Amino acid sequence: MKKITKAVFPVGGLGTRFLPATKSIPKELLPIIDKPLIQYAVEEAIEAGIETLIFITSAAKHAISDHFDPMPDLRAKFMAQDKQHLVDKLDTLPITIQRVFIPQGQPLGLGHAVLQAAPMIEQGEMFAVILADDFIQAPSNPLQKLIEAASHTGRATLSVEAVADDRISSYGVIAPGSWDQGITQVNDIIEKPAAASAPSEFGVIGRYVLPQSVFGQLKATGMDHNQEIQLTDALHELIADGGLQAVQLQGQRFDCGSQEGFVMANLHVAIQNPKLQQQIKTYLSSWE
Ligand code: G1P
Repeated sequence: MKKITKAVFPVGGLGTRFLPATKSIPKELLPIIDKPLIQYAVEEAIEAGIETLIFITSAAKHAISDHFDPMPDLRAKFMAQDKQHLVDKLDTLPITIQRVFIPQGQPLGLGHAVLQAAPMIEQGEMFAVILADDFIQAPSNPLQKLIEAASHTGRATLSVEAVADDRISSYGVIAPGSWDQGITQVNDIIEKPAAASAPSEFGVIGRYVLPQSVFGQLKATGMDHNQEIQLTDALHELIADGGLQAVQLQGQRFDCGSQEGFVMANLHVAIQNPKLQQQIKTYLSSWE
């Protein structure tokens, strides 16, 4: 099988839960301390062997392209001042990595966003999809695990984790088969079920490795009741042939599409810095 070297980043969402910040800043550029969510996602992808980044954008998202542009003048200035630590922060993308920007046109759902990448993917090729607002801190690269599992079987592979009952209706939810070393066949998948009808506690999180053939399923998938094309509905069509598997995430995930997840992610990263940790402790103790 051809090596998996392309990743799709759907970044055309409206980010309404972060208005007014997201009037001019795409939600994927919101920072965890000093590094934007999209930068974390891109670093994860590159570490997992991705060489081509495909951003599915909306009209207001030029800032994402700007973020990955080199800044030669500022770079030269920092170099002249011998400020290598600042040069390192400017270098947001290795020069060997290719960037492609594809406008989504209309925000018609995750499935519609992924479908826009179809011209970039060759027949028989598998590709990754990363939702940058699922911020993951894990001992080993989460996308790498998916790539290994997908390369082994050739099946569409998604990442799942156990989700609390009161949050399950915000996720795609799978019915797993039996687990073997953290991997299971998927027997059913439902987009955002009510808690009472969820087939399990395992919610889909924003990492996928998909075969090129998924574009056929996406084209055939109709709009849902919100007038969106859901990736979950297309993936459901792969189940009959045993073509869908899931990998359980090892690590901590923060839903940075929500305010509470975003605040917790910032706290999680901040307390790993000894100086910030001390200041946070002192500040929180004043609330006790
Ligand atoms: C999307 C998917 C959903 C998945 C989630 C993970 O939903 O449609 O199946 O569980 O991402 O973050 P969204 O968060 O875009 O509503």
